Amino acid sequence: MAPDIDPYPGLARQLTALLDGERDCMANAANTSALIQLGLSDLNWVGFYFVRGGGLVLGPFQGGPACTRIALGRGVCGTAAARSETVRVPDVHAYEGHIVCDVASRAEIVIPILADGRLVGVFDLDSPVAGRFSEVDQQGLETLVRVFVDATDLSDWPA
Ligand code: SME
Repeated sequence: MAPDIDPYPGLARQLTALLDGERDCMANAANTSALIQLGLSDLNWVGFYFVRGGGLVLGPFQGGPACTRIALGRGVCGTAAARSETVRVPDVHAYEGHIVCDVASRAEIVIPILADGRLVGVFDLDSPVAGRFSEVDQQGLETLVRVFVDATDLSDWPA
């Protein structure tokens, strides 16, 4: 069996290099989604929602079509946004209020995106495998979101 290698240090280096020299939010969000979709196993959706008009609006992503607007406090995404903290759900079937975008999703993790203390949006990953996201994944993904925030001009957000 292949050794269990932590993919996050390599992904953080690759993401830093990929975003170097570009500060546009949508361009960087699109490339961040694409890199992470390629670099992690067992994902069926990876992408961004950005704060706009007091709610969350769908941004760049990899995966199937998704709901376009989520109110703060609703679903896993809206809960992570309202609390400004990561929400990790081992089994979405057991999470009251989960918003179904893809019936294949079983586990979900949502990381808030904060820039200078302002809530800018959330980064959302879904997996068809229950319990897919561990504490190591949470720490690794929070680091990748910091790389995205540091590389990106987020002065237009929240819009
Ligand atoms: N399941 C999310 C909705 C977004 S999709 O998974 C892409 C939620 O409950 O907020």
